This record gives sequence, structure tokens and C-alpha cells, in this order.
Amino acid sequence: MTTKIIAHRGASKLAPENTMYAFELAYNLGAEGLETDVQLTKDHIPVLIHDETLKRTTSGSGYVKDFTYEQLQRLDAGSWFAPEFRDAKIISLEDFLTWVKPKDLYLNIELKNNKIDYNNLESMVYDMLKSHRLLERTTLSTFNPNSVERLVKYKDDIEIAYLTSKRNPNLVEHARRLGASALHIKYRLVSEQLIRQSHDANMPVRVYTVNKYKHMMNCYEHGCDGIFTDVPYKALTFRKVFQFKKQL
Ligand code: G3P
Ligand code: MG
Repeated sequence: MTTKIIAHRGASKLAPENTMYAFELAYNLGAEGLETDVQLTKDHIPVLIHDETLKRTTSGSGYVKDFTYEQLQRLDAGSWFAPEFRDAKIISLEDFLTWVKPKDLYLNIELKNNKIDYNNLESMVYDMLKSHRLLERTTLSTFNPNSVERLVKYKDDIEIAYLTSKRNPNLVEHARRLGASALHIKYRLVSEQLIRQSHDANMPVRVYTVNKYKHMMNCYEHGCDGIFTDVPYKALTFRKVFQFKKQL
């Protein structure tokens, strides 16, 4: 099997994360999938931003949930990264899906509801993916175990991943009991045993955030199903190196 290269928040090492610049760039550089994070605005619009607050990645401050989508549109989501990105905006999930639709990309929509458990976020995002006919190539993931349980009703239509960074000898069993159909884990949890157990339970394993050569090679070697990386162009090159070495 070939490990899929998924751009983490877009090509987030080269352009401001979770903006169209980062997604366009990731796609143009050959990423095979995109990962993004969803929070909810005051007027219940799912938007792509990693933090619950605006300070780190925009010209604003305060919580995303306290602003309307229109208010958020006035913010600069690019200057913090580099001046040439000053016209970058926070984008809605709707606009992102419209852009993704004609492209051959796998999608991982991460629900950022582990700190603020946004009401109905699961159903809103699911309905949007359904109306864009993107269910089949998307994984919904979350660190929030209660949210995984709420997502179980969609399991026949869309892959549901439990996200975790915590060591647990019974992780696969734990995820299975929650009702997840995939496992998204921090790279330090990668082991031959965990990948095997997960695959035996028919659960794909994807790993975040894998930016270093050594860690990438480890994931390729263990047959991880995907890696989330800020540097998809490097991951693609190193995967070629891995495949070349394997033939020797
Ligand atoms: O979805 C994988 C990864 O993005 C989870 O962590 O904090 O980068 O969203 P974080
Ligand atoms: Mg994420």
C-alpha cells in the first residue's frame, strides 16, 4: 500500500494555514489530500481556522464563536505569516468544498469541538458534505470522544476518525467502541503493533504532523495509510526515495 500525502492545513509551511493560498499551493505541489480544521461563527457558519481564537492567525482578537461570518471577512488572515499574503481571508467550509469538488483530492475535515463543543457541528458539516457529494472521499475526525459517538449515525456514509495523541495499550479497541472507523494519531504513537492491530480491525491509520525525514520514512515503512504534513512536496520526494530503496 502507498501512504497518502495529506497537506496539513494546506501547504502550511509555505503559506498561511487554512487559507486558499495554502490549499491552492498544496494542490499545485501534488498533495493527494487536504486536512483542515472547522470552527463555528456566531451566525453558525462553519469556517476554516485551527484555533478557537483569532489572535494567532488573523488581525483580530477574541473567539471565532463571538463574530459573524461577515465580521470575520474583514480580518487579514495572511500578514502574520508574510506581508504578501495580506489579502488572505478566513474561508467558509462551503466555499472550500466548492473549490475542492472538481479536484481529485482526499479530504479530512477535523471538527474542532474538543474545547468548545459547538452545537450541531456534526450534522451541519455532514449535510454540507452530502450536498456537495463529497462523503465518499472525506474523513470526519475529532479529538472529542463524545463527538465521535454523535457521528456514528453517519458511519455507513462517511469515514469517522478518532483523533488522539494519548498513549493507550487498548487504543484500537477504545476507538472501535466509540464507533470510529479510522484512527488519526500523533506520530510518536506509531508502532508496528498499533498499525497491525488497527488494520486487523479494518481501521485505516493516519498520522500527524509528520514533517521530518525520519518520521516520514517510519510511517512509510509501517504502512500507515496517510500522513498529515506541513511540507507535502518533501513528503512526496521522500516517498519516492523510500520506494527506490525498497527495490534495492
Ligand atoms: O487532523 C490532524 C491534526 O491536524 C490534529 O491536530 O492541532 O494540528 O489540528 P491539529
Ligand atoms: Mg487539524
